[in-house]
Amino acid sequence: MSTFRSADWFGKKDKMGFIYRSWMKNQGFPEDLFDGRPVIGICNTWSELTPCNAHLRDIAAAVKRGVYEAGGFPVEFPIMSLGETLLKPTAMLFRNLASMDAEESIRGNPVDGVVLLTGCDKTTPSTLMGAASVDLPTIVVPGGPMLNGRFQGQQIGSGTHVWKFADDMKTGKMTPKDYLFAESCMSRSAGHCMTMGTASTMACMVEALGMSLSGAAAIPAVDSRKKVLAHLSGRRIVEMVKEDLKMSKILTRAAFENAIRVNAAVGGSTNFIIHLTAIAGRVGVDLHLEDFDRLGSHVPLLLNLMPSGKYLMEDFYYAGGLPVIINELRDQLHMDAITVTGKTHAENIQDTCTCYNADVIYPYKQPLIAEAGIAVLKGNLAENGAVIKPSAATPALMQHRGRAVVFETIEDYHARIDDPALDIDETCVMVLKNVGPVGYPGMPEVGNMALPKKLLDKGVTDMVRISDGRMSGTAYGTVVLHVSPESAIGGTLALVENGDFIELDVAGRRLHLDVPEQELQQRKACWQQTETPYDRGYASLYVRHVLQADKGADFDFLTGHSGAEVSRDSH
Ligand code: FES
Ligand code: MG
Repeated sequence: MSTFRSADWFGKKDKMGFIYRSWMKNQGFPEDLFDGRPVIGICNTWSELTPCNAHLRDIAAAVKRGVYEAGGFPVEFPIMSLGETLLKPTAMLFRNLASMDAEESIRGNPVDGVVLLTGCDKTTPSTLMGAASVDLPTIVVPGGPMLNGRFQGQQIGSGTHVWKFADDMKTGKMTPKDYLFAESCMSRSAGHCMTMGTASTMACMVEALGMSLSGAAAIPAVDSRKKVLAHLSGRRIVEMVKEDLKMSKILTRAAFENAIRVNAAVGGSTNFIIHLTAIAGRVGVDLHLEDFDRLGSHVPLLLNLMPSGKYLMEDFYYAGGLPVIINELRDQLHMDAITVTGKTHAENIQDTCTCYNADVIYPYKQPLIAEAGIAVLKGNLAENGAVIKPSAATPALMQHRGRAVVFETIEDYHARIDDPALDIDETCVMVLKNVGPVGYPGMPEVGNMALPKKLLDKGVTDMVRISDGRMSGTAYGTVVLHVSPESAIGGTLALVENGDFIELDVAGRRLHLDVPEQELQQRKACWQQTETPYDRGYASLYVRHVLQADKGADFDFLTGHSGAEVSRDSH
């Protein structure tokens, strides 16, 4: 009998062995599948309510072929799937819940290795966080982006063009008929957002961490080579089990540093920071907000994709994909970091790093933008930090002093933003409170507040906006996000009043509320925490245990890992 952990179920000779095998046999599995071969769990985030992942059962079928071929026994199981577009109040509220689902489903079942099928934004970090807390050999098959959007002769990008079209509707530049037509032009195949939004960012993160086969991130969902990738990943995970190549051997500090640098070069989403921090917390790699700035902010932008640039994921794939980026960054990366292939990045990309379109992927020496990574701001308005993505911001606004126009909640914002009487002009700083992890709860993607209609009509395209929320990776603008500590727990953001002056200095990494310290102390003394309306269910657990954004917004009791050991039987 084998020494794999599944033998603790299927290898038993007693009553328990009967129970563990017999019920599985109702699916028609022959006896020899229980002979001690590696059992591979295929953790599937398939759901028709997560449109970006709706094709993953086909991908699972391809993984199974590979697993069988390599002599393994594949078993597919579903976990909670988080779709960015439908789930209210925000998919982020449930990332930690899904991670618990992944963790316990993996640990409690007879699997020796795991394939994570991911796609839409949160399905990647949630499964990685859960799997990392068990630490079995694990490989990720990212579901892949949709084909490029095409609308009236132009390329349109998921998300990115939603924000633009919504503004165009407000100002009458677009008709309701065209607006409706654009919906199907944007989302015209299986797959996730094909801009460099959070889903594409997460796929690049996975590959940079070494958690997928090389070249996986950019393959479109409907390209036949996505199934080839799934098939090969199925073969590979069986070998990984035999080699005992656990996640913790791949997710070293070097891997995280690689991911941070690659994220800067591809113009990845600000959500990357929160998710990578949470994953690091599970494997015990000590990652701080400052690390993202120190390691990433001086890395140049190489990839010309929306929202920072002009192309889309399909173009990225045809240009050569992430191996080209990794090659361009080779002097900045730990090229000797081990990946799921059992080989290093340097070995993986040897024959696959030719760039086929220099307008999509720029060379390191002549980048699209010289310094592109996410900047971490500090100051009295964000004692534990806030973030901004300079490549998506307006250069002229990166140093700015303006009068605060404050919205206490998202409802307050919606009620007043288009009021012609609102006292606001383009030099003002829009401030949104109570959209942090505790405040919303779940830290929604509302930080890129649309500008007031009267300013859009004037032709204003960007303003400084500050909140404790997040923004979609597909969004753009001079938007300061993730302010920590958040307003709902009494961070300085809670004390901002209309008419205060705020100073943003991205080069100086400073976010300052220009109000005398004594005045702030007085305001603080009068500030009262709103009582949470969440007194039962998951939301009540969430508001009591969620960490602040700078700590990855994981639950305090989930950081760390418990391993794969379960000593008690089910009966
Ligand atoms: Fe699923 Fe964008 S909505 S990836
Ligand atoms: Mg998103």
